[in-house]
Amino acid sequence: MIATRNFAAPARQYLRSTRVAPSLASPRFQLRRGYASTADDDRVAKFKGQKGPDGKYTVTLIEGDGIGPEIAQSVKDIFAAANAPIKWEPVDVTPILKDGKTAIPDDAIASVRKNYVALKGPLATPVGKGHVSLNLTLRRTFNLFANLRPCRSVAGYKTPYDNVDTVLIRENTEAYHQEASERVLRFAFQYARSINKKKVRVVHKATIMKMSDGLFLNTAREIAKDFPDIEFDAELLDNSCLKIVTDPTPYNDKVLVMPNLYGDILSDMCAGLIGGLGLTPSGNIGDECSIFEAVHGSAPDIAGKGLANPTALLLSSIMMLQHMGLTEHASRIQKAIFDTLAEGKSLTGDLGGKAKTHEYAGAIIQRL
Ligand SMILES: NC(=O)c1ccc[n+]([C@@H]2O[C@H](COP(=O)([O-])OP(=O)(O)OC[C@H]3O[C@@H](n4cnc5c(N)ncnc54)[C@H](O)[C@@H]3O)[C@@H](O)[C@H]2O)c1
Repeated sequence: MIATRNFAAPARQYLRSTRVAPSLASPRFQLRRGYASTADDDRVAKFKGQKGPDGKYTVTLIEGDGIGPEIAQSVKDIFAAANAPIKWEPVDVTPILKDGKTAIPDDAIASVRKNYVALKGPLATPVGKGHVSLNLTLRRTFNLFANLRPCRSVAGYKTPYDNVDTVLIRENTEAYHQEASERVLRFAFQYARSINKKKVRVVHKATIMKMSDGLFLNTAREIAKDFPDIEFDAELLDNSCLKIVTDPTPYNDKVLVMPNLYGDILSDMCAGLIGGLGLTPSGNIGDECSIFEAVHGSAPDIAGKGLANPTALLLSSIMMLQHMGLTEHASRIQKAIFDTLAEGKSLTGDLGGKAKTHEYAGAIIQRL
């Protein structure tokens, strides 16, 4: 299939008059073609973990603060019931100070490096004092360059739209250089292929942010040439926001990829379309290691009461299984989750039900 490079008009206009963004012909713009192969071995962020002698993969588990341990328990119970070949390795990430900077304890870092993958509960960040965000520290420590946020409507939980199925990839490192752009963009094309979406769209504001977004957009145009089976286009951020909230359906066949700040805002907007952060999973993807986590925080107001909804962490753990190539286990558990939600008998309070966290998890286990 021939690729259609169907740029939105303003982007096209910008690219014609590009004066400040680096030219595609400039030496600054030479893509590392060694990276370009799409053979499986060259996949960006390919999972490198190996099964142990017991036939199981070891996964680092950061239970997190507040409701973290409660929702992590649901994941552990459901994975055990589903015979998922996963052995959990819990680590403590209580921050330490190293040379005056917040750091993750060495044992925790070594565990993630060894296992190449982690599941993480929410970590509380002190406001206006104390250590810097551990989430940010984790991202920096492991160079987690892409934040992957799928949002799919949940049957049984009514929102203004019933058919949302967006996938958004946000550049995660806030690095505005070509290498960072290239990596996240190549990941976006490869990911689109892996989930059978036939289109990749860059969301940008290159009309205003000529240097940073111009570079991102130009890099995307070059990388698109390596993926002739994927249609590529671009859209201005404001236009995307207006169109998604008016009708999200045209976005169901696309992977949206964008610089950090827009991704931060647009991903929460998409989460709002399916019922909020309690249902939204995510993956932080790095070259070596990847960390999967719920998008919501530690919910201190309901912590320890058995009221938390573990769905977001559970769906993050499904993304983790898919990343590890354990697709059959992922599909089986995911079906049990969606069927339980659709039935509506064992929902937690945030979804209008009366079930406790463990009762909801028990209902999922019954369906496995
Ligand atoms: N990725 C992360 O680790 C992450 C993300 C966001 C916030 N945080 C941290 O979490 C702490 C609390 O943040 P916040 O209160 O702004 O946001 P929050 O997401 O923790 O809570 C917002 C509201 O949503 C509810 N909620 C959240 N998750 C829920 C769940 N799984 N089930 C049922 N209800 C749920 C809470 O009860 C609360 O009413 C802060 O320290 C913040 O820095 C961490």
